[in-house]
Amino acid sequence: MPLLTLKEALQFSVDQRYAVGAFNIANYVMAEGVIRAAEEKGLPVIINIAEVHFQILDMDNFMHYLLDRVHRSPAPMVIHLDHGYTYENIIKAIHYGFTSVMFDGSKLPYKENVARTREIVRIAHAAGVSVEAELGHVAGLEGEPGSANEADTSAFTEPEEAERFVKETGIDALAVSIGTVHGVYKDEPRLDFARLKEIRKRVDIPLVLHGGTGLSREDFRKVIASGINKINFFTGNSVSAVEAVRKELSDKERYIDLPELILIAQRKVKEVTMEQMEIFRTRPLAEQDKE
Ligand code: 13P
Repeated sequence: MPLLTLKEALQFSVDQRYAVGAFNIANYVMAEGVIRAAEEKGLPVIINIAEVHFQILDMDNFMHYLLDRVHRSPAPMVIHLDHGYTYENIIKAIHYGFTSVMFDGSKLPYKENVARTREIVRIAHAAGVSVEAELGHVAGLEGEPGSANEADTSAFTEPEEAERFVKETGIDALAVSIGTVHGVYKDEPRLDFARLKEIRKRVDIPLVLHGGTGLSREDFRKVIASGINKINFFTGNSVSAVEAVRKELSDKERYIDLPELILIAQRKVKEVTMEQMEIFRTRPLAEQDKE
């Protein structure tokens, strides 16, 4: 199936109140786990590749595999650049064949975030590529169980500013800060649903939630009902796969070879991704335009 842009994959999600998962991959094992989950479920998926993972992935070689794999798959997929900070890497991603890019100017002053995001939108849209940007800032680092993260309430997204930002930049999806963090939470997450509902009222493009790991089913139900359409998820897959491998290795009597060990990790990524797709209420593409 041909690749979808983020805009295409989320085009019915605002009206129909569901979310599509954006699962970060940083190697072939995670990629296969996520792709096989989408294939088994027959559901669309967003493959997230963060700029920080470009180096460990060896992108020139990795993209040959990924593009070929995705084109030969029956599952509808988006290849999305997660947390693009530099102009160079965003252009590189477009050149590699990504169908969507995130420009993360969330730590910049408002005006500069608008100016730089607009420039990326001009370039990406000229190439038929969607753009996600972030306003307000979601704290924390993904995948680090050792460091517990706390939401910074002073960096939450202001609804009125979000409305302006979307108009001024022309982006296709907006990442908001409402209480989630990347990676592992220090305390119970406390999400500002009222703020999210207010943003949803003022903004008609898909809204993105970063820091999906660590929320309860009920939190997910509520954020989706309140207007979230794309949910980023990484640490949960990584931690679960490592745990599964650790458990297998704890039985010192059992012989296990490398291919089997890697398959255990891949199957875990697939299992967790499928679970999350259910929780996100992701709908098959064919059903999405029926309402
Ligand atoms: P988690 O690692 O907390 O799931 O967050 C992933 C994310 O937001 C990637 O951008």
